[in-house]
Amino acid sequence: MSTAFIFLLNVGWSGGSPHYVRSSHLSFEKSYEWQSKETQCHRMLKHLQDGPHVTVHMPPNIAGHWLSTSCEVRPGPEFLTRSYRFYHNHTFQALQFYYRDNHCTEPRYSLLIQGSVHLRQTSWMIRGGTEADYKLSRVQLVCHSTEVAEDLSRHFRQSCFMPKPLVLGVSYDVWSEESSHDCTGALNFTMVELQLLRVEQRHSRGDPDGHAEELFLGDVHTEHTQRKLHKPVRYQAPLHSVKNYDRRCLACQIISRADLYHPPVLPAQDDLPVRLFGNWVSTRCEVRPGVLFLTRHFIFHDDGSTWEGHYYHYSDPVCRHPTFSISATGHYSQGVPSKTVKGGTEVTFTVTHMKVTPMNLVTTSLLNAFSGNECGAESSWRLGIQQDVTSTSGCAALGIRLPHTEYELFRMGRDLDGRRLLYNGQRPTNGSSPDKPHKRATSYQPPLVQCSSSQQGAQSTNKEGEQHFRLGNGCVTNSLEILLSVLPVVISFSFVLKDGDWARL
Ligand SMILES: *[C@@H]1O[C@H](CO)[C@@H](O)[C@H](O)[C@H]1NC(C)=O
Ligand SMILES: *[C@@H]1O[C@H](CO)[C@@H](O)[C@H](O)[C@H]1NC(C)=O
Ligand SMILES: *[C@@H]1O[C@H](CO)[C@@H](O)[C@H](O)[C@H]1NC(C)=O
Repeated sequence: MSTAFIFLLNVGWSGGSPHYVRSSHLSFEKSYEWQSKETQCHRMLKHLQDGPHVTVHMPPNIAGHWLSTSCEVRPGPEFLTRSYRFYHNHTFQALQFYYRDNHCTEPRYSLLIQGSVHLRQTSWMIRGGTEADYKLSRVQLVCHSTEVAEDLSRHFRQSCFMPKPLVLGVSYDVWSEESSHDCTGALNFTMVELQLLRVEQRHSRGDPDGHAEELFLGDVHTEHTQRKLHKPVRYQAPLHSVKNYDRRCLACQIISRADLYHPPVLPAQDDLPVRLFGNWVSTRCEVRPGVLFLTRHFIFHDDGSTWEGHYYHYSDPVCRHPTFSISATGHYSQGVPSKTVKGGTEVTFTVTHMKVTPMNLVTTSLLNAFSGNECGAESSWRLGIQQDVTSTSGCAALGIRLPHTEYELFRMGRDLDGRRLLYNGQRPTNGSSPDKPHKRATSYQPPLVQCSSSQQGAQSTNKEGEQHFRLGNGCVTNSLEILLSVLPVVISFSFVLKDGDWARL
């Protein structure tokens, strides 16, 4: 792998001339060649790229009170809501509320976690993130149902000393600086999420004062045995600042008023049936482990069994510098309700056809260097030119073999504007692919939003309305920036080569 790394570095640097920089900035619509007519979906993806509506301060100012905006799902699954307070003196008080159900209507127990957190350097692994160290001083537990009190008493008996039985509505120290006992293990508890932070300010158009602040914290490992040792590689759903959350967010209001003894009880709801039909796009630039950023566009055709997915990969956290894009097509099974994850639906996906477009010189060189007969026609890759790699059973250089099957988990939701949201399964943190039923996700990725309920746009050949958007400021002259835009690609490819699978999609 290190050989590949050095090789790629050289490829990257040999192109590190002004010529390279210019040509690495392909116009945006290049990556959308399959969809030349500007559709609503297209506009929404373009809007994500424009980026001026999001500002990120480095280092982030995390002082304040931050709230979940809905019932969150963690691997396991665990259903929870969070209410975190960070103070200027570096201390914090984090409330976590756990539930039996996927709408967070039946509280099981609450935790109040106290400690301190110190921001360190900007993250090298996750561009745009800031690393931090934290120290816990106290973790308190309150049970809200007899069932959970008995359940936890049983867990604690096996691993640590606690008074028994636990009494409802009484707080217990499960960990504290002074005492020697540590009962956090039985709760699968960890705060490693505080090791990676990012704050985004989102400005609403036309209203300079109207902005929302979001706090992103590190992710939770998909394997519960790995949780405590995990170094975050992506983010959980963001928390919103109590100062300026959208007042239509009922969950936010309820969560903001809760305390250790009074957990938020969110309004009961029905599970929305999973109806995949239509077009769905990312709502933000998404992070993948291994220094990759991407946006996604899924299209589910009205035959109820075929789909296409378009994955636009970038080297930077605001998705302005494209590296490559992948278009996949295939079929999927009918959904069945998940027995493991309440509210989830299980679907099996197969990819049968795939096209790849290198979007910068590094990727183009990589594909040419690695091709053989294993990734499209040998040495034929050109910047911005899409190739079908179906005949070579995928692309060995990208670690993709066709046909490929994945065991997916889906659920639906709605945003505050009433638009439909589609959540699909979180990918295993270790970078493997959910290609066996037992590897199926128990939590979700950031949602896609429905941008059109028809499949219009996918096969359109109408060139009218084609937009020529520019990527970023189009001209990077500073060599550090060149390094920063090249390195992630190099690293991500090393990662891909190592794991050789579908980690990125
Ligand atoms: C830090 O600030 C908070 C809020 O102002 C206060 O409650 C807490 O006691 C302070 N902690 C220390 C160690 O100074
Ligand atoms: C901890 O995780 C394991 C495995 O997912 C699960 O069986 C156990 O119930 C969890 N403990 C608690 C208190 O949720
Ligand atoms: C990665 O995790 C999955 C389960 O999430 C497991 O089945 C698989 O063996 C793991 N692979 C490696 C290489 O650790």
